[in-house]
Amino acid sequence: MTMIDRRNLLAGSAALLAATTARAADAPTDTLKAAAASKGRRFGSAFAWSPPGADAGSFANPAYAALLKRDCDVLVPENQMKWQAIRPAADRFDFSRFDPMVEWATTNGFALRGHTLLWAYSKWFPAWLNNHDFGQRPAVEAARILDQHIDTVTKRYGRKIESYDVVNEAVDPDTGGLRETSLSRAMGGTAVVLDHAFRTARAAAPHAELVYNDYMSWEDGNAKHRAGVLTLLEEFRRRGTPVDALGVQSHIGLFKPTTDAGAVAKRLEPEWRAFLDRVTGMGYRLVITEFDVRDKGLPATIAPRDKGVADFARAYLNIMLSYPQLGDVLAWGMSDRYSWLRGFEPRTDGVIARGCPYDVDFRAKPLRGAMLAALAGGVQRAVVAR
Ligand code: G3I
Repeated sequence: MTMIDRRNLLAGSAALLAATTARAADAPTDTLKAAAASKGRRFGSAFAWSPPGADAGSFANPAYAALLKRDCDVLVPENQMKWQAIRPAADRFDFSRFDPMVEWATTNGFALRGHTLLWAYSKWFPAWLNNHDFGQRPAVEAARILDQHIDTVTKRYGRKIESYDVVNEAVDPDTGGLRETSLSRAMGGTAVVLDHAFRTARAAAPHAELVYNDYMSWEDGNAKHRAGVLTLLEEFRRRGTPVDALGVQSHIGLFKPTTDAGAVAKRLEPEWRAFLDRVTGMGYRLVITEFDVRDKGLPATIAPRDKGVADFARAYLNIMLSYPQLGDVLAWGMSDRYSWLRGFEPRTDGVIARGCPYDVDFRAKPLRGAMLAALAGGVQRAVVAR
């Protein structure tokens, strides 16, 4: 190579570097997705469908759509992929609400998670599934129904959906045992159902990350739930069940009156780290699937409440983001306006829960700043072999 060639090559590389840096500089760095991306992760949120003219956490609200586009690069349907939403009968599917959500998300460049191929909890089964007559060969009929569901959904969306909560909440938090359902009674036990679901999902969607999703958490009184999930994960490994990751829902909360959320977090940290060390020690990756903060134990006044929520969230996320095995981080909605918390556990003082990054008028709160700092400060995500 002549001196002139070398000089041209260096000049060209410098120009390329300058352009790349400029592009990187142009991209806003104060977004949650940029903070996550700086450590190899994606940030996202649940989103919803709403009937024309209604306003329910849907992309149909331009202000909310803009907020999703600003901060998120992965989305998950809050309700519209559940059996209750897409399978009104054993022989019928209804994708009329989820299809437009997939279309909008993919058209706008979002990645998608699928929630959930099986919520292994009778309370959330459609009525027909709880009362289904599985006939003379119940195990065969139950497997047929389950396989038809998983095959239909995964084949309909193909590579548009990159990660599935294959099974959601199969562990009873009060006992640590597995919940029984009409499917488990037909197939000979919940472990049989769960293994079947994961094996069918792996065959139907070999590209996808397969997740067991649950709400075991770090709060007091959750030890049995954590232990039950660890047992289930160990059993999956012993049986060779194709499970890639644990979905840590992360509906964290301050339930007892406190004015020092940071001190509460400090007390909870050791046991939570011990749990996460066991999970990752078995080779599972981690996904934060449904993050929000329940603020019942904090004062009603907004400033101290928002500070407590932000301090608690920052401490929790700092722990989670210290694991290179942690991949995607998703909130369960970006605005208090649409949060499930409003209806699920209304505060006794009647004020609206403030567990999402943005308030009811889509104004950023201290929680968003805490999330931004934690995402930017996390360890680099480990490169995933699959
Ligand atoms: O869509 C119907 C509507 O047609 C009907 O008029 C209305 C009144 O009955 O109900 C609407 O469905 C509701 C649905 O949310 C959509 O708003 C269901 O009744 C209601 O039960 C459902 O609640 C959801 C809940 O899961 C149960 O599916 C919450 O929004 C959702 O945030 C919550 O999310 C769960 C995750 O899936 C799993 N992890 C825990 C998390 C919080 O509970």
